[in-house]
Amino acid sequence: MKTTLISPKIVPEFHRQIGSELEAFLQYLAIAAYFEKAALPRLAAHFARQAEEERGHAMRFLQLLVDNDADVAIPAIPAPEAQFKDAEQAAALSLERELRVTEEIHSLLRLARQENDFTSETFLHWFVKEQLEEVSSADQLLKMIQRAGDRRLLLVEDFLTRSDQTKLTKEKASEGS
Ligand SMILES: [Fe+2]
Ligand SMILES: [Fe+2]
Repeated sequence: MKTTLISPKIVPEFHRQIGSELEAFLQYLAIAAYFEKAALPRLAAHFARQAEEERGHAMRFLQLLVDNDADVAIPAIPAPEAQFKDAEQAAALSLERELRVTEEIHSLLRLARQENDFTSETFLHWFVKEQLEEVSSADQLLKMIQRAGDRRLLLVEDFLTRSDQTKLTKEKASEGS
């Protein structure tokens, strides 16, 4: 007998979501490589970090399935876009993907509610918050890249360096508290 607290109906949808998070992982790796080649190291580091976050998202779903003694299946992952016309196109793709994942998370949440699956519902709340952050930061970065234009991307690099420092300071402050 399986000891599970999640609805059997949502399990295949979680498999699909693992695929989607891993697809985002690969897409961000490809975008990071694009910026690295364009000699924009802060943008490259930003997307490499995003990639790691996506891997972490996939792991969260995987862990939920394991904890619930559910079947684990990982779908085939399509190859990411690797060629970009310019920085704006790469940043626009990242916003588009984040909006798509947000839709996916919302429809998972609808299903969890339909099924009275409180375990999945509670689990998914973290992702609802996370997607708001991801969409808003992808949107901000795209706007900044558009405003800077191709020839002034170093300004965006400078912004990322400074905002990283702010984040580090915040992390240090919260560690101390
Ligand atoms: Fe994600
Ligand atoms: Fe994301």
